[in-house]
Amino acid sequence: MTTSTSSSSLPDAPTFTDVLEARRLLAAHLPPTPSWTYPVLNEAVGATVWIKHENAQPVGAFKVRGGLTLLASLSPQERAGGVVAASTGNHAQSVAYAARQFGAPCMIVMPENANPVKAASVRALGAELVLRGAVFDDCRTIAAQIAAETKARYVDSGDEPALIAGVATAALELFEAAPRLDALFVPVGAGTGAAGACLTATAVAPECRVIGVQSAQAPAAYEAWRSGAPATLPNKTVIEGLSTGQSFKLPQQIMRALLPEFLLVDDAEIRSAQRLMLAAAHTTAEGAGAAALAGLLARREEYAGKTVGLICSGGNASETELAAVLAAPLTS
Ligand SMILES: Cc1ncc(COP(=O)(O)O)c(C=O)c1O
Repeated sequence: MTTSTSSSSLPDAPTFTDVLEARRLLAAHLPPTPSWTYPVLNEAVGATVWIKHENAQPVGAFKVRGGLTLLASLSPQERAGGVVAASTGNHAQSVAYAARQFGAPCMIVMPENANPVKAASVRALGAELVLRGAVFDDCRTIAAQIAAETKARYVDSGDEPALIAGVATAALELFEAAPRLDALFVPVGAGTGAAGACLTATAVAPECRVIGVQSAQAPAAYEAWRSGAPATLPNKTVIEGLSTGQSFKLPQQIMRALLPEFLLVDDAEIRSAQRLMLAAAHTTAEGAGAAALAGLLARREEYAGKTVGLICSGGNASETELAAVLAAPLTS
């Protein structure tokens, strides 16, 4: 992975050239996902809204772009030694999918109460699944330990330049479909998606304001971005993809340098946004996949009449989650 030499403040970050390389690589594995705009949603929000449908990926989430980019960058010896990752389920599916593609043994650690849709997918992709730990942060510690003991390659869900370069290609495809976005709302857990969107926007759409959105019930990344110091905070969100109690170093470096705005929304607002996605955009989004819409709804007056992009980062909602979505109040 080439690292930036032009910016001394981002020495470990991927460059936009890395993003272009990732896109060339990914073209052999994944078709571009659709970018659509929906009149009923536009009316409900009062803006022209472009949804980037990462829920249409083969594993139902944007993370697969990063997993494939990272596995492609490993040596044959590293692949043969296997990969280990911790996740609430989408980084898990991404690494499992890529490991299968590149013939690497794969072990995944997910929380004991993991979303059954994501757990079933990880198993079906041929990975060994360990359900241990109450929340994602426990899984991260366990997975790193297993990797150290087995000498497998630990694939962190945030501090990996190749993951960030890979997921940055989602924003690139969106800007090709909708080059003149006033703003792009991106969900944040570890921050790879938002960091990647910032790298891409800086290169191809510098007028577009990238806005990170995290759950107020797990605000570690927000706090680290605000304060400039690593943060460990309570992780109480029910929104799986946004569930982390710790900030991640590399995404933070990039977001601190390039992300102009970061919002917190409540889990209940995310549930309402999921319902609006279903009702007005024919889209089943998991919570994290609707967080960007929740962020836009929180800023709807500011963006009235403007053109806005939303990363719908995933659609892997469990049946229990979908029942909660249908019971949520519909934002109008
Ligand atoms: C669907 C979905 N959206 C958003 C995120 C947050 O991405 P990141 O951790 O790169 O900030 C995740 C993380 O797993 C996710 O699964």
